[in-house]
Amino acid sequence: MLEIKNISVELKGSDKHFLILRNVSLSLKKGEIIGIAGESGSGKTILAKTILNIITKPVVKTGGEIILDGKPIVTEQDFRQIRGDRISMIFQNPTASLNPVFTIGDQITEAIRTHNPEISVKEAMERAEQLLSEVEIPHPKERLRAYPHQLSGGMNQRVMIAIALSSNPEVLIADEPTTALDVTIQMQIISLLKRLNQEKELSVIFITHDLELLANTAGTCYIMYAGEIMEKLSSEDLKSGNIRHPYTKSLKACVPQIGEKREYLNTIQGTITFNGNEFADKCVFSGRCDRATEKCFKEKPVFSDGFSCHNPY
Ligand SMILES: Nc1ncnc2c1ncn2[C@@H]1O[C@H](COP(=O)(O)OP(=O)(O)O)[C@@H](O)[C@H]1O
Ligand SMILES: [Mg+2]
Repeated sequence: MLEIKNISVELKGSDKHFLILRNVSLSLKKGEIIGIAGESGSGKTILAKTILNIITKPVVKTGGEIILDGKPIVTEQDFRQIRGDRISMIFQNPTASLNPVFTIGDQITEAIRTHNPEISVKEAMERAEQLLSEVEIPHPKERLRAYPHQLSGGMNQRVMIAIALSSNPEVLIADEPTTALDVTIQMQIISLLKRLNQEKELSVIFITHDLELLANTAGTCYIMYAGEIMEKLSSEDLKSGNIRHPYTKSLKACVPQIGEKREYLNTIQGTITFNGNEFADKCVFSGRCDRATEKCFKEKPVFSDGFSCHNPY
């Protein structure tokens, strides 16, 4: 249903020049949850923003295609028609994404009326209340009169989901939707997303730095490193350790213990690589990889069979 083909995004600057995304491809079927995981700085947010065409200079898309239901989305006008309408997005920090000076009700009705200008204020309020119950907010009618600071982070993320759902989108991109929340609240938001996925056949692109959360949420998992897809595997394979790529293996080995909360998911030696031109002909993970051979420094592995590696497990 949604296909991302060979997307490349560059950072165009006078001193810095590197690829933020190199040939990233993924596909999402109707009613599916796919997940994308990678260390902080691996390009997950830029990928999400590229899908919606909301990246801004010096970040520039230099190649690739985005295809929705077989139709390429090309011009800004094409994107405007799908953005927030057929594809919605929620972000990491819900409280900061909401406007502090307007009530929850104002913000949801505003979103509703942007997509259906003909709907009356009263109808929009009713629809807003219904959306709040859909995202399992208790006492929705009263909550409509609350301001964002009066609600918890978890409640505000539910409000963001309600706003995202107000246009009845087919796809929801959730960029680290639970990273700012406590573990128990995190699980509640995940179950909500799963329920919406099942009941509404909502397709979800779930982005996280947390491999365990990824495996528990998504069906198909994509593992990113320095702007490239290293591996695509099922959550079952990820959980059971049926992993081919050395990068995924080392990430899995570094998964924090239950209850431990970290901003970075790994303790792999070294730091994430800037994906410059020198990586056109070698593996971007070669410098940090314990299985790297001479070939890895001379020839870029091509993604096939679900991984991009010369020496897979
Ligand atoms: N506006 C920008 N200017 C310069 N570099 C940027 C900008 N936005 C993102 N980047 C760089 O692009 C890379 C990917 O960023 P991002 O997609 O936010 O990573 P993630 O979401 O995986 O943590 C990072 O190296 C980041 O520094
Ligand atoms: Mg991010």
